[in-house]
Amino acid sequence: MRQLIAGNWKMNGLRAEATTLAQGVRAGAAGLRCDLLVCPPFTVIEAVARALDGSPVAVGGQDCHALHEGAHTGDVAAAMLRDAGATWVIVGHSERRQNHGETDELVREKVLAAAAAGLTPVVCVGETEDQRASGQETEVVGWQIAGSLPKPFAGVVAYEPVWAIGTGRTATDQDVATMHAFIREELVRQFGEAGQEIRILYGGSMRPANAASLLGVPHVGGGLIGGASLKAEDFLAIARAAREG
Ligand code: PGA
Repeated sequence: MRQLIAGNWKMNGLRAEATTLAQGVRAGAAGLRCDLLVCPPFTVIEAVARALDGSPVAVGGQDCHALHEGAHTGDVAAAMLRDAGATWVIVGHSERRQNHGETDELVREKVLAAAAAGLTPVVCVGETEDQRASGQETEVVGWQIAGSLPKPFAGVVAYEPVWAIGTGRTATDQDVATMHAFIREELVRQFGEAGQEIRILYGGSMRPANAASLLGVPHVGGGLIGGASLKAEDFLAIARAAREG
């Protein structure tokens, strides 16, 4: 299974910067051992998709609505992302769960909407600092997986401990190993053999200096990169650290 290195640009990038960043990623994307994905803001998806057209780099959205269309001011449907050139979408990121009150049930509906529109979902899960401090991290992640993933599920899971996102703190390789083994068990319990094939990304302050060790942990199927994905050279350095197979 090839690892997936995915960039989550969050709310960064006007058209000119986003296009330059996409061109920079494109320039270093040939011959890598991993799959590459960038998820720019809605407004530049089309420009980024155009800049990456014919390259091995896929484009995704950072969220989608659970419904196909209708009176939902400010929201974007999965089919609109597809229409703009995206083939992937991140759903259930902790910033959406926290800032927009998204529940597991809503995330699950968004995954179904993504699949119906032909997008591959990256479903984010992860515990808060308090939940880890009280030893609840596996329980929390187990509930998120049970509640957020429909059956069948054709997508990717991203484990992102909330306290590691944008903080410069990463989970230790041992913590990642424990959590990813737990997530693999849960996926196999829910989906049988198909659960073995679901990639499980790690996200949270991954950068060139720690990428090789994090990407070397068993059951880590790639990375979801925020801050370090905003510099093409850092994002590509992480991609070069991906392990084969
Ligand atoms: P970070 O963000 O790499 O800046 O910690 C990761 C994410 O939120 O996906």
